[in-house]
Amino acid sequence: MRKKVTVVGAGNVGANCALRIADKELADVVLLDIADGIPQGKGLDILQSGPVQGYDVNITGTTDYADTAGSDIVVITAGIARKPGMSRDDLLAINNEVVKAAAENAIKYSPNAILILVTNPLDVMCWAAWKATGLPKNRVIGMAGVLDTARFKTFLGEALNVSVENISALVLGGHGDTMVPITRLTNVSGIPLSELLPQEQIDAIVTRTQNGGAEIVKYLKTGSAYYAPSAASVEMVESILKDKKKVLPCAALLEGEYGINGIFFGVPVKLGAGGIEKIYEVALSDTEKAAMAKSAASVQEMVDVLKAKA
Ligand code: NAI
Ligand code: 2OP
Repeated sequence: MRKKVTVVGAGNVGANCALRIADKELADVVLLDIADGIPQGKGLDILQSGPVQGYDVNITGTTDYADTAGSDIVVITAGIARKPGMSRDDLLAINNEVVKAAAENAIKYSPNAILILVTNPLDVMCWAAWKATGLPKNRVIGMAGVLDTARFKTFLGEALNVSVENISALVLGGHGDTMVPITRLTNVSGIPLSELLPQEQIDAIVTRTQNGGAEIVKYLKTGSAYYAPSAASVEMVESILKDKKKVLPCAALLEGEYGINGIFFGVPVKLGAGGIEKIYEVALSDTEKAAMAKSAASVQEMVDVLKAKA
């Protein structure tokens, strides 16, 4: 029997997740959105690519969570973008309600599903979904580190004129401009980055990575990135569905690891059939630890806003 993945939010990220899952023939997909017509239309359009692309999965567009029943994975991309005049806390409050409802409804119909969160602010939305559902921590996972690391590798590949496939890198921390690219552990086929690029060029690439989302928003003006975010989300989906046990940077609930407790935060995890099967605690330098603590404080601040509202 085929696996089943629900994608909540049929916007730019959600629709591209559905398309990539179909293209890779990973699972049947249910695309759900609050805007009636959008998931049905996009779902049918993706389904009709099957004969050309050569996939035999089913794509269903819907506004009804009953159609999502029995999903193995639910990817939550639903939410709104920050609009002019809206504070960061306003956005936080709105997306908190969207994500809570999506997670609760999804788990009602698929009690064994693993949740992958994409909606921003990412680390905080993971916490909201975990709180709302009471799921064990291995089944609530945030997508950010895979995307941020992909951006870092892209910029390094360009600078070095080497294949991005030869670059091994790790971007940890919260999904925002305080994220922590661990340059000390970055290498190209085992050759340390410090032997390949001058420090000032590495620093410039780190800064560009930290502002990677904003760089795309500046070009698009009315929205944010979705091709790389959907690719990153589907790498996580694939690792879980195929039990590949890839080690990827994802937002996970920390309970003392890295000296951080009670928030979701980007760390290396093993992703397999059980969701997060292991959290790796990498030995960090004092500078890296300080950067992680600064990033964790910014996530904690937003979690505290939600806790105060609850
Ligand atoms: P979008 O605006 O294209 O799509 C959002 C969709 O959510 C819309 O179709 C909307 O109708 C739907 N929606 C809103 N409320 C809903 C509800 N209550 N139930 C079901 N659907 C609902 O936005 P896009 O570009 O797809 O981004 C989605 C989210 O992902 C945003 O919060 C964005 O900031 C975030 N994002 C996170 C990334 C990460 O690295 N974690 C990367 C890229 C985007
Ligand atoms: C990004 O990094 C907006 O979080 C989104 O592109």
